[in-house]
Formats: sequence, C-alpha cells, structure tokens
Amino acid sequence: MAQAVGWTVRDGVAVVSVDNPPVNALGHAVRRGLVDAIAVAEADSRVRAVVIAAAGRTFPAGADIREFGKPPEDPWLPEVCDRIEACSKPVIAALHGTALGGGFEVALAAHYRIALASARVGLPEVTLGILPGAGGTQRTPRLIGAEQALRLMLTGKPIGAAEAMAMGLIDGVVEDDLLEQAVALAVMLADEGKGPRPTRDRRDGMRDPVAYEAAIKAARDGLKAPRLPAPGRIIDCVEAALLLPFDNGLAFERAAFEDCVTSPESAGLRHAFFAERRAAKIPEAKETPRPVGHAGVIGGGLMGAGIAHVLLGAGLRVTLIERDRDALAGGLQRVAVMEEQAIARGKMTEKERDAQWARLFGALDVGALAEADLVIEAVYEDEALKAGIFRELDRVMRPGAVLATNTSYLDIDQLARVTSRPADVIGLHFFSPVPAMKLLEVVVGAQTAPDVVATGFELAKQLGKVAVRAGVCDGFIGNRILTAYRTAADFLLEDGATPYQVDAAMRAFGFPLGPYQVLDMTGLDISWARRQRLAGTRDPRARYVAIGDRLCEAGWFGRKSGRGYYRYDAAGSASEDPEVLALIAAEREAKGIVARTIGDDEIRDRCLCAMVNEGARLLGEGIALRPSDIDVVMLAGYGYPRWRGGPMQTADQRGMLQIRNLLADYVGEDPIFWAPAAIFEEMIKYGRKFSDMDEG
Ligand code: CAA
Repeated sequence: MAQAVGWTVRDGVAVVSVDNPPVNALGHAVRRGLVDAIAVAEADSRVRAVVIAAAGRTFPAGADIREFGKPPEDPWLPEVCDRIEACSKPVIAALHGTALGGGFEVALAAHYRIALASARVGLPEVTLGILPGAGGTQRTPRLIGAEQALRLMLTGKPIGAAEAMAMGLIDGVVEDDLLEQAVALAVMLADEGKGPRPTRDRRDGMRDPVAYEAAIKAARDGLKAPRLPAPGRIIDCVEAALLLPFDNGLAFERAAFEDCVTSPESAGLRHAFFAERRAAKIPEAKETPRPVGHAGVIGGGLMGAGIAHVLLGAGLRVTLIERDRDALAGGLQRVAVMEEQAIARGKMTEKERDAQWARLFGALDVGALAEADLVIEAVYEDEALKAGIFRELDRVMRPGAVLATNTSYLDIDQLARVTSRPADVIGLHFFSPVPAMKLLEVVVGAQTAPDVVATGFELAKQLGKVAVRAGVCDGFIGNRILTAYRTAADFLLEDGATPYQVDAAMRAFGFPLGPYQVLDMTGLDISWARRQRLAGTRDPRARYVAIGDRLCEAGWFGRKSGRGYYRYDAAGSASEDPEVLALIAAEREAKGIVARTIGDDEIRDRCLCAMVNEGARLLGEGIALRPSDIDVVMLAGYGYPRWRGGPMQTADQRGMLQIRNLLADYVGEDPIFWAPAAIFEEMIKYGRKFSDMDEG
C-alpha cells in the first residue's frame, strides 16, 4: 500500500488515513492507496466497517490540480469513488478542515459522512473552469436536489458543517474527537447489521422532478456573460442525473469534465490559482516579519480611510492623522460609512463595528504615532508634500517602525533618502476601493530591509489581500502596464476608433469596464497631472496623443464633473458624447491623420500586445520577479478577466511568435512604444514561454 494512505484496525474498524501534505490532494499515490485500502478491508475478516479520514490540517481538499493536463494514471478518481461506494462493508468519511472538490466527492461516495463542526465542505471546481468530475454532479443532487446542488457547484463557495447537515449532505456533526466518534459510529453500524448505503441508489433529492427541472431551467436562464464552458456543463450534468441511469450519468459527466479541463478558460483559471500562491514566494519569505499591532494612516481621503478600515478589520489599533479638524472628521466619517456598508453587506456585525471603533483614534499631529509599529502615508500624490511627511515621521517614530507610502507612481528611494532610516521605508500600494480590491503591491526600495518586505507580505495576509513584490520605477508593475494599455488605446482613437468602440471591444474581451469608462470613473485629471509632471522627460521621438489633455482643458474630468469621454445625466447614466467625437476628429485633423476603420480584433490585439510588451520590459528590468506576478497584479487590481489568466498567460496561449510579429507590424508607427522587448527574441529562439520563467 502506498505511504500516502495509512491503515490501522481498531475495534474491527479499518481506519484509512490519507497523508499527503499540505492539503491531502488526491494525487496518484493517494488514489492508489485508497483503492488498495478498500481491497484489503474487503478481504480482512477482522474488518466490519471502514473509516476514511485524513492526517494533518484537512480532509482531501481536491484532486491534485498539478496533475491536470498530464497523461492520466490509473486509478482515476471516479474509479476510486466507485470502488469506495461498492465496498461491501459500511464506509464512513470523517471530515475536518476543508473537504473540497474531489475530496468531497470521495466523501459523497462513502456511505455515511460525519464532520467536525469547524469543517467546511464544497465543490469549488467551477472556480477552476471545470466541474466535479468524480461523480459529484450525479451524487450531490441525489442527496439534496437540483437547486441546492447547483448553488454549491455554480458558486463554488464552501459551506459549514452545520449547513451541510441541515441540507442532508452529511449525517452528523461533532465538536471534537472526530476519529473516535467516526469509529464509534462504524462499530454501531456494524453491530446493528447496517450494510452499505450507496449514494447512487438514493433519491432523496429527486422526489419532486417538477421542482428539479424548474431549478435546472432557472439556473440556465441565470447564466451570465461571458459564457464560460463549465457552468453550462454543470447544469447539463445535474439534469442528466435526473434523466439517466447512474452509470450513464457518470459517463456524461466524464465527457463534460474532459471538455472543460482541456479548455483555455480552465487553463487560465488554474494558472491564476497557482499564480496567486506563487506570488508569496519571495526572496525574503524566510525573514521574521516585524510585529504590527498599532498602525498609523496619514490622510483620511477615500484611500486613507479605506486603508484604516481594512487595518481595523484585521484587528489592529489604528491612528488616523489629518491636517485639520474638519479633514479629520471627514476621514473618520468615511471610515464609519465603510463600516456601515460592511454591516449592510453582512460582512460585519454591529458588535464588531463597535469593537473596531474602540480601536480607532484620530490625531492632528504625527507625534501621535511615536509608539506605532507601522505607518502608511496616503496623502495626495505630491512629491514635496510626501517628502515633508517622511521627514516628520523620521523625527517622531520609534526605531524599528516601518514607514510605508501608498504612492502609485513616486520614487520610493527618493522618499527613503529624506529619512535617516531608508531600510525601514517601503511602498504599500493599495487599490481603490480598498475593502473590495484584493491587490497590494509591495514596493521594495534599493535599501528596504528584508524583514520590512516580509512585514508587508504578512500584513497583506492579515488583510486578506494578495501581495505582489515590485521594484521601484514610475508606476511599479500595475500602473506601468495600465499606462501602456491606455497609450495603445489612445493611438487607436487617433487612428480612427471611438472611445465607445474601444470600451466595448475590451468588455467583450472580458474586462468589466473599458479603459475610457475607468478613466471617467477615476478622474481624468489624475493622469493629466502625471503627464504634466513627466512632460520634460518625454522622448521627442515618441508619439504623443493629446486627446486626454484636450478633455481636461475643457474641464471634462469624468464622472465627477458630469462629462469625460462619456456624458453623464443627473442619475449618473452614461451616454456617448458627439462633442468628444468632434474633439477627437479635430485632433486627427491637426495631425493630418485620416481616420481608418479599425476592427474589434485589432483593438484587442493592440491592447494585449502593449500590456505584454510592457510586462516583458518589467521582467527585463527586474521590477517584477516573474511573469505570473504580473498576471496576479492585472487580475487582482485591474479587472483583467480571470479566466484568461492574466496578460502573460494570454500571451503564452497566443504564442510568443505571434505577439512579437504583431509588435513588429506596429513598430513603424512608434519606434519607442512598440519596440518589442529584448526578451522576445531569446524566448522565441529557445521555444520558451513566460510560464517557463514562473517557477524560477
Ligand atoms: N491540488 C494541488 N495543490 C493544491 C491543491 C490542489 N487541489 N489545493 C491546494 N494546493 C496547494 C497550494 O498550491 C499550496 O501550495 P504551495 O504551498 O506550494 O504554494 C498549498 O497547497 C497550500 O494551499 P493554500 O496556500 O491555498 O492554503 P490555504 O490554507 O490558504 O487554503 C485550501 C487551503 C482552502 C484547500 C485552498 O488551497 C484551496 O482552495 N484549494 C483548492 C481547492 C479546490 O479547488 N479543489 C478542487 C480541485 S479540482 C477537483 O477536485 C476536480 C475533480 O472533481 C476531480
């Protein structure tokens, strides 16, 4: 028997224990071990019943995702589940931790299920672009009907043990001593002569076929764009569970699983899953983070208040600093509004809010931060203002405190230089709205101490954010790529596209909003100020599109001023603006450009190539550690469609040669912007993909 599965006999009960850290994923050795264990249990006359449990932190959390896409090795998980279900002696699954995906399917194939009260169960496959492929789509609705089964499988959200029990998915919940209680149940079943209870034979959830079909129809009607393959196929499989004999239903599920697992959408989603975890693997990972119990936030604007709100949510004591009483009251008010919103969304109770409020303090002087462990400066993007604040912080803060800036663009090394402790200075770049956005760019300066970097990553973990390590440059990872994306979009406007066409093409690609909708939302004046700041450093050979400047000169700053690329009515709904189109036409005419017809595919190709090329440059400059970190930034912070995996993953799927050739086609239009990054030639020469660099 393989070592990944342990075996003991207690009181006539075989205890089969999966042991495959960290999450007991059902890799080949575990599958083999489970099948062998059931065979031994069948053959051993001492054994009257079987308990399947797991060592370590969790019952298996799923199939081993790393094996997808590789040649399958017998036994497959569906066979393992069938073998468990067919056992002639009762099999009990004892669940703790997170029994997810294939792990929960193993439990569904067992004849009885008991769980620790803290356990969570679920079928999250849809989040990886696949479906439960080991009988989950057939067994789950047999127990709980189509409506609940579809809720589990289409949202992918795990549920607690009590809810699972109330639904009929599991048979018992225990507070502690899971294994003892599972063995006791097994002994009782054996004593009572209760044999196996195969889920395939149960019809509890199918007693009302009309309601079952109605749930199928409602789910189909509720499918949202973009239509990814997995959700539709899950619904088909659950319908097949009602209409087909069990074994035919399994075959139907298998075919659907194969289609999904080989889809590019699933490849993108799986890439995103591993990319997010890989981002935490930084050179400083072994450093001990500095303890952070009290944090200061400077600036109570939307950003600062959002940061204070999430810090409070993570259990920290927070001091919010503003320049005068009114501004401070405004900042505290913003935090209060966010807390009310969190309560309204069911994310926080009133009691938790009160507890948080007791940990929030306001002050007008940075002297209040003398004992703080960390400070995050989140004031307006003005170099002199920020430098002044850092000088003050250097004066008042205790030795060893971390001095962080939330700047989106400015040079962190320059800020570090105004202090006497550059090793303690770091960038913690949050994204707006802070409570909702998952991304935190941890920007590491030339002199930032390794344990300060580790502190940034630890803080991100406490806040439930995905941290990505970035080096210092204008815009770090995300805003560098965003700028390239917007530049490509601006070229398209000048050459003949409209902002509305560009937005629609990028929404069809999968972004929730197009680039001009986002600009209108965040305010055109922010990037205008930045362009003015950088005007002196602009390469005269580079193509410069002034359409955004013209809009700002007209006072059209976006949503907040009622006009931007779109026109907004009093209710806030947007419409296309003929005056913007006239302004764009005038810009073209001034430059002697004759508008050409541009197709949506070309818009997408150019925007993608611009992002990938900038990503390749970031790698070349050492700003990003690996391609998948760039993907994580774009997925978690900029609305890049998750099922595409991020721009570098999309480039891998398109092929390096194609991307480089497109760039080469465009380069005549602007030899600076479109020049293919150096890295492409070498990658093409050696047949490499971006993902080959991820593990390095
Ligand atoms: N396969 C392979 N590796 C996995 C894995 C899986 N199913 N689930 C987690 N891991 C790995 C992670 O990559 C990570 O590895 P590193 O330490 O090398 O980075 C490690 O296990 C720990 O994972 P987390 O950092 O995510 O730990 P956590 O405690 O924050 O979360 C978890 C644990 C809730 C189980 C989370 O890992 C998770 O959600 N895993 C995926 C669950 C899932 O989707 N299961 C369904 C798989 S598909 C399936 O089962 C198909 C089928 O029907 C046949």
